[in-house]
Amino acid sequence: MNIVLGITGGIAAYKAPDLVRRLRERDADVQIVMTASAEEFVTETALQAVSGRPIRSNLWDKEAERAMSHIELARWADLVLIAPATAEVMARLVSGAAPDLLSTICLATEAPIAIAPAMNHVMWNNQATQANRATLEERGIRILGPGVGSQACGETGAGRMLEPDAIAAAAFDIAGSQDERLLDGKKVVITAGPTREPIDPVRYITNRSSGKMGYAMARAAAAQGAEVVLVSGPVNLEEPAGVEVTHVGTAHEMYEATHTAIENADIFIAAAAVADYRPADIKEQKIKKTEESMRIDLVRCPDILASVAALEAGPYTVGFAAETEKVDDYAKGKLRKKKLDMIIANRVGDDCGFDRDDNTVSVFWSDGEERFPQAQKALLARDLIALVAHRYYAVRGADSKDNVIAIH
Ligand code: PMT
Repeated sequence: MNIVLGITGGIAAYKAPDLVRRLRERDADVQIVMTASAEEFVTETALQAVSGRPIRSNLWDKEAERAMSHIELARWADLVLIAPATAEVMARLVSGAAPDLLSTICLATEAPIAIAPAMNHVMWNNQATQANRATLEERGIRILGPGVGSQACGETGAGRMLEPDAIAAAAFDIAGSQDERLLDGKKVVITAGPTREPIDPVRYITNRSSGKMGYAMARAAAAQGAEVVLVSGPVNLEEPAGVEVTHVGTAHEMYEATHTAIENADIFIAAAAVADYRPADIKEQKIKKTEESMRIDLVRCPDILASVAALEAGPYTVGFAAETEKVDDYAKGKLRKKKLDMIIANRVGDDCGFDRDDNTVSVFWSDGEERFPQAQKALLARDLIALVAHRYYAVRGADSKDNVIAIH
């Protein structure tokens, strides 16, 4: 994938080398175009080293133009990504003025454009900036973030640039979604992350799920045009752009939120690591350390996945199986026992599955299977969503998409 990365003059530009690295890890060719003010925050030398290409900054650089003119650069791009995007560049994009190389490329390209705004929270909330954001969105420019949190100016609010990894994942979803939108018009509900089952006001039972797999599935489904509802346990991840997120704590809350969201859903994907058991009795006060040993009685939590699979006229239902041994056998057992349409099996342990950026999975359905070698969760999720879509149309038939067959 060819990405023109525009870097404009904000303090978040110091994260640009990391962003370039994340894009290149995903096999993108990255051509950096800097504005004059960006050069105040990050050096050309650093950016050239990480991108492996000479930096472009001047519309009137005759030598660079001879190698690839700004019009050729605009055509070369599969995506124009501006990160960080200042309030000023947003205003310039709205106006259509093209005084420099970056804004000229934006006018001349037919590729999708995405921007990751970064600015002081008062500037972000300013009416002019918000009007510009709305105009850009109406014109189809994708706005990634901004995030909320502490800012370089010492204040707190909305305006932080999203983290490089989140921007890179979103960039690939946007560029990859231009050709096939396998799930246009479909509603997909996804669970992700762990649950927390309280013992007393200060302690709970949980597990090692980070939510990365489920969030990647949500991003990939949204990139394929689906309306996505993500029911998320407590995680420390950026919310995926264009996805409705419902935050929950316990398995019971996840059950309730899932069943609220599931109405009219076409596909349900259970990537969450839901507690199987919870304390029977939650103590109102902190348990004191008095005895040498103690017991906590546990009772079963509702099985969300099995309950959705049992719905009459329910969605196409996909489970995950997290196993430490006999992965295929146990996964196939869950497929049959919970009456699922598909199950995605992964080995979990100290060095696989949980809380990592990569995963290795095997997928089973009643009369087929497919193996996916180790890959970044973001990339794996794209392939898994394509497979889920293919199987969904194969089983539910009626409005099947011809182009799905071409992928698998
Ligand atoms: O979140 P990460 O750090 O990225 O890690 C990813 C992952 C390992 C958590 C993910 O890939 C995964 O395997 N998710 C399922 C974890 C799990 O709970 O597996 P299980 O084999 O115990 O459960 C089987 C299925 O039933 C799962 O789809 C689970 O969501 C569902 N379930 C389980 C119990 C329950 N009470 N309700 C459920 O819906």
